[in-house]
Amino acid sequence: MERKQFLKNLGAGAAFALTFPCAQACSKESGNGPSAVMPTGVDFTIDLTSSEGAKLANNGDFILKNLVVVVKDLNGNFIAVTQICSHQAYDQVRFVKNDGGIFYCDVHGSKFDLDGAPLNQVDSNPAKPIKVYKTELNGDVLRVFE
Ligand code: FES
Repeated sequence: MERKQFLKNLGAGAAFALTFPCAQACSKESGNGPSAVMPTGVDFTIDLTSSEGAKLANNGDFILKNLVVVVKDLNGNFIAVTQICSHQAYDQVRFVKNDGGIFYCDVHGSKFDLDGAPLNQVDSNPAKPIKVYKTELNGDVLRVFE
């Protein structure tokens, strides 16, 4: 193989290697971030007697639904926040039992209190809150809405 052809082939392979993983993981449709799109018009219910709702039976349990983290906090209150981190928009916000129960994004380590307020600053930019949704319990049905 001639040098020119080798470099041409290498260039095509390198371009494929750089673009293909991003097409899989970086798409806005995938919601993986860093450009995950904040959903609008969030309004859904969870039947707490269903198999889905059973995952919220204990204090500290949480589920992910429609890019929302729905949690039964350590005091038994239902709270819902966006999965999308205010730092760089990865959809990796989760509930953790550390520090008395907080929201945490493991991409760069952002922490948020149960009201969505930032608890730390992970780079030179001021930390911003995450979106919090309303919750309403009617019997065994939990509604999460804006
Ligand atoms: S995207 Fe969550 S901490 Fe950076």
